[in-house]
Amino acid sequence: MKLVTIIGARPQIIKAAALSRAIRNHYADRIQEVIVHTGQHYDDNMSQIFFDELQIPRPDYNLHVGSASHGVQTARMTEGIEAILIKEQPDFIVLYGDTNSTLAGAVAAAKIHVPIVHIEAGLRSFNKSMPEEINRIVCDHCSTLLFTPTKAGLENLKREGFSIDEGGPSTPSTGSGTEGSGTAKPTIDNPKVYHCGDIMYDNSLHFANIAEEKTDIIQRLELKGKPFILATIHRDSNTDQPQRLSAIFNALIQLSKECQVVLPLHPRTSKLLKTNLEEKLQEQIFNSPNIILIPPVSFLEIIALERHAQLVITDSGGVQKESYFFKKPCIILRPETEWVEIVHTGNAILADADGSRIMDAWQHFKNNPPTTFPNIFGDGHAAEFMLDKIISCKVL
Ligand code: UD1
Ligand code: UDP
Repeated sequence: MKLVTIIGARPQIIKAAALSRAIRNHYADRIQEVIVHTGQHYDDNMSQIFFDELQIPRPDYNLHVGSASHGVQTARMTEGIEAILIKEQPDFIVLYGDTNSTLAGAVAAAKIHVPIVHIEAGLRSFNKSMPEEINRIVCDHCSTLLFTPTKAGLENLKREGFSIDEGGPSTPSTGSGTEGSGTAKPTIDNPKVYHCGDIMYDNSLHFANIAEEKTDIIQRLELKGKPFILATIHRDSNTDQPQRLSAIFNALIQLSKECQVVLPLHPRTSKLLKTNLEEKLQEQIFNSPNIILIPPVSFLEIIALERHAQLVITDSGGVQKESYFFKKPCIILRPETEWVEIVHTGNAILADADGSRIMDAWQHFKNNPPTTFPNIFGDGHAAEFMLDKIISCKVL
């Protein structure tokens, strides 16, 4: 069986590590994976670093699309992916998440009848002003196999008309999933949905101890034994709106009076910080001894930071979840989240870009640090589960 996997943005490269590892370890005799990097992310610390550190095979193709407007970027990717699919004739294309690379893969594949496997299907923010919401809806509705990491994802797909076999087991930790309708071979018009756990959870479990051994970021930043907050900000709704970006950074300055704040800066944010924040605020941020601004870090480094932080503040989807994996409370800098379970369990609070809500959430977690983190994200073997289902679908 041949799979063409599309990656492009940082979180997709990291997710691909789990699937490629599972193929290498358990399915090498049955599955050939062709990796296509769209080039959406291209700085070394947004791309190459993960291939080196997480032992992801070198991409077979790199489209080098780089940064551009949504339309231009997606169009360039779609053109490149279509040509590769025609040449490679895969059994499936594998798409992760909700970026423009996902959208391009979905459009290119669906139009030339290459069946789509969507990993991280069913997530919804119910906010169509997010580019990611458009991307994930389109991808889900063009897919043949949909792997949803959470029960909320499953419910969303049900609501959108996907047929779910209610009789099927639905607990991912048993290594099984909730299947779509019937035993007929799945197609784009008769797709199959599986609830299977989160592939990022596979990675976090796999790399947590390796990170402890192989990184020295905690020592390097002189954080050993000190409480600190880990912050990440990159969502366009925050970076592109000066008022929201200022509110977030003002809150971080407030917090830094009580606790050190470590902030690995996404390149989007580094650029917009300089144009969208007043000079005085920039000076405060750059001169504060308690705000440690650093370039994007590697995956092993970020999970070491997540593991040692007292609390996480983020607008990232991946970092929200990882804070939960490592049993840390999380303040989410968005009005809503796709990962609703972590809010419902009380381990994360939606604070939007609102200074007083951020400070209230901080006070809340300081006084009531959460102690229970129920298993929401599966058993750490989502990748193997998905590969089994992909293989069995081919032989149906
Ligand atoms: C993209 C995804 C977002 C995801 C995020 C992960 C879309 C629409 N957005 O957002 O869902 O959460 O990746 O990080 O696909 N840049 C660099 N170097 C790089 C990459 C980007 O400098 O290697 C800068 C460029 O100025 C670029 C900007 O960051 O214009 C934004 O990059 P882009 O890939 O368009 O969107 P992200 O904000 O990274
Ligand atoms: N990440 C990383 N280095 C960083 C910041 C994040 O390796 O400096 C990882 C993080 O652990 C998570 C993924 O990148 O696995 C999340 O990517 P990002 O926040 O860019 O995007 P999102 O998940 O919001 O789409």
